Amino acid sequence: MKIEVENSVKNTQILCGFVLENSDKVLGLKKIDSKTMLSVNQSLKDMKGKLGEITIIPSPDKKPAQRILLAGIGKKENLTKDTFRNVSGKIAQKIREIKLKEFSIIIPPNFVYEQISSISQIVEGVKMSLYKFDKFKIQKEIKSPDLTIIVSKSKKILQHVKISEIVAEGAIFTKSISNLPPNECTPTTLANFAKSISKKNKMKCKIISKTELKKKGFGGITAVGAGSKNEPKLIILEHNNGSRNQKPIVLVGKAVTFDTGGISLKPGQSMDEMKFDKCGGTTVLGIMKSISELKLPINVVGIIPSVENMPGGESYRPGDIIKLFNGKTAEILNTDAEGRLILADALAYGEKHYSPKVIIDFATLTGACIIALGNNVAAVVSNNEQLKKKIVDSSKKTTEDVWELPLTQDYMDMIKSDVADVKNIGIGKAAGTITAAAFLRNAIKDTPWVHFDIAGVAWTQGAATKEKSYNPKGATGFGVRLVLDYLQNFKN
Ligand code: BES
Ligand code: MG
Ligand code: ZN
Repeated sequence: MKIEVENSVKNTQILCGFVLENSDKVLGLKKIDSKTMLSVNQSLKDMKGKLGEITIIPSPDKKPAQRILLAGIGKKENLTKDTFRNVSGKIAQKIREIKLKEFSIIIPPNFVYEQISSISQIVEGVKMSLYKFDKFKIQKEIKSPDLTIIVSKSKKILQHVKISEIVAEGAIFTKSISNLPPNECTPTTLANFAKSISKKNKMKCKIISKTELKKKGFGGITAVGAGSKNEPKLIILEHNNGSRNQKPIVLVGKAVTFDTGGISLKPGQSMDEMKFDKCGGTTVLGIMKSISELKLPINVVGIIPSVENMPGGESYRPGDIIKLFNGKTAEILNTDAEGRLILADALAYGEKHYSPKVIIDFATLTGACIIALGNNVAAVVSNNEQLKKKIVDSSKKTTEDVWELPLTQDYMDMIKSDVADVKNIGIGKAAGTITAAAFLRNAIKDTPWVHFDIAGVAWTQGAATKEKSYNPKGATGFGVRLVLDYLQNFKN
């Protein structure tokens, strides 16, 4: 797909404009020929402009547009930071369905909605909604139509469109790797993806393999990875574009390429979905790709512990006591609580080696998170009020919703072990998301840190996931846009 910006409408197969509820105008539509205007006005009378309503009308003279598409966006007071993203995605999917090669969208005027925001929503909505996971189908989706944006062209707008494209491509990259089946995506595959984006975008990339992990004391990663013939990897990407003495931001992502539960085997139902247990790691990959393409003037390190959690003769077991990278010992009581073990190693490594300013981690960590918050809001847990506030601000801007859960000392106490420093599960099912976060908190000292539990939001989970055009069935890339917003506004 190609995106262009034009000052006025050139010849186009279909000209698309937004309509507020019960309005008799197409937002931003300048005079077109009178015959076409007549049929547009006629359709506006029939149309209610309800959110998501789409009407296509032929244009009699076929110039400059062969057809006109009217897209309802509801009442002005109900416009959100997601409306244009969602509706634009619907427009794009409709255009693909009717097999047009290109389309033009008129940007609404600033007094109706802030243009910079509507433009980025439109670019993201169109790009993300046209992505389809069809790598393994012989019959591929037809080619995505090209978008032309109608808005008075300026340097600022052009630059903004470019940024939005890179952000959307980051999220799509994350989706496309997350959707890969577990037989086609092992820790080694992820390491290869990291290498290839590092080569293209001049990042440093280091892969630590099994023997070295053992030697260096990554007891969590090697224990969880022991049961699979697909060996564990620790993937590290460095984007160094800030000044030398600037402390980096460390991003950590759980990448369990398949989570069977290990010896504490999961029940069979929906186990296939555990291919998405790598989504924390793929989120970090997508963010790193975009950061490097945006050439953000900061230092960022992406750390991705990747394993496959399998039962087998070599697997770790309930009852084992292992030593984590930071020297603390952990009693294993359930091999299905594996994410926190590999993350603890990666977090401790990140803090020790990079003395970061901030650590952010992503993980499909707990089923309990889905019970607590459902499939439309991620949980965040943090040790730093200021950092958390900034994350919440970015979340509001990108509409990737989060809610904070409290990490009080009482919950830290719930993972103390009788026989080791910590144990890898809390007490029964109580506050499972918080006790998991408590385990992670134990891995680091006092670096400002925020943890995202994305178990409910990393992929669409049937009707419980609110339908959004730009998140078709499968992985969503949750967090990529949010963190890119945070990093674009990062001040040292
Ligand atoms: N990857 C799962 C969490 C998960 C489950 C995410 C379902 C999304 C959907 C994680 O490794 C896990 O198995 N957690 C256990 C922890 C428990 C044993 C303390 C869980 O949530 O059941
Ligand atoms: Mg598990
Ligand atoms: Zn898991």
